[in-house]
Amino acid sequence: MPLVTTKEMFAKAYNGGYAIGAFNVNNMEIVQGITEAAKELQAPLILQVSKGARAYANHTYLIKLVEAAIIETGLPIALHLDHGDSFETCKSCIDGGFTSVMIDASSKPFNENIEITRKVVEYAHERGVVVEAELGTLAGIEDEVKVSAEDSSYTRPEEVEEFVSRTGCDSLAIAIGTSHGAYKFKPGTKPQLRFDVLEEVSKRLPGFPIVLHGASSVPQHLVEKINKYGGAMPGAIGVPEDQLRQAASLAVCKINIDSDLRLAMTATIREFLALHPDKFDPREYLKPARAAIKELVAHKIVDVLGCDHKA
Ligand code: G3H
Ligand code: 13P
Ligand code: ZN
Repeated sequence: MPLVTTKEMFAKAYNGGYAIGAFNVNNMEIVQGITEAAKELQAPLILQVSKGARAYANHTYLIKLVEAAIIETGLPIALHLDHGDSFETCKSCIDGGFTSVMIDASSKPFNENIEITRKVVEYAHERGVVVEAELGTLAGIEDEVKVSAEDSSYTRPEEVEEFVSRTGCDSLAIAIGTSHGAYKFKPGTKPQLRFDVLEEVSKRLPGFPIVLHGASSVPQHLVEKINKYGGAMPGAIGVPEDQLRQAASLAVCKINIDSDLRLAMTATIREFLALHPDKFDPREYLKPARAAIKELVAHKIVDVLGCDHKA
């Protein structure tokens, strides 16, 4: 099976009341950990690559790793550009074999966001590629851009119909209280996603796939290890998984997860090296790190996204 777009995946997810996991990939072990879990659970998958990942690993290496995953798993996999910052970055990914791109002009004024998004949509659609756009701004860090909680803003539902009809985008990322990175909410606070905003958006865009960024939420089984070895602030709170599950049962068809993978991988490597200070073969510490990613992704697929056996 070749790489697919997200069109059919999202239609099935919307109607089936589940979401597809969009996991960020940066190297072979991450691709393998994610795709091994998806294969065992027969889950459709979005592998996403940021501008930073392309700078780190090189476009061609990443494409070839994803092609290898398709051969190994036989799953429907979409290859997506995460947070494309310009028409040029999107074009380069479209020309280079991606089946989906995000143009993130959410920090620009409304009309400018529409203009740049529409330009990407025109180029992408002529080549059979789908486009995710964003309205509203999440707090947190992505690439080098840091948005403080005060500067973040929820999506305004009254803008979504005009935005989608004028841009022609295929899915829309909205801001309802999630945020990027490992430090989402202060310890002791109780995060609450704005389901009223999600409901209002989906009423105005019936059948249209909604995307949630910044959806990492360290699962219970990893808390102890990550607090001890992972580098995250002890007691840091992610998005509660029951709220993500609820979002997946509604119009949210794509849920983005990156920080959880980083924490699981790094905590596992730190733990291994702390317990075995004499070891230096990278395969010895990357093997448990890959297994930790697989376990984490399996948990997300079954307990958060609900997309197991939907491939
Ligand atoms: O939302 C951003 C993703 O976590 C990608 O992060 O730009 O550091 O690769 P990155
Ligand atoms: P997290 O930082 O919560 O994993 O979000 C990742 C993301 O939104 C990638 O686009
Ligand atoms: Zn994001």
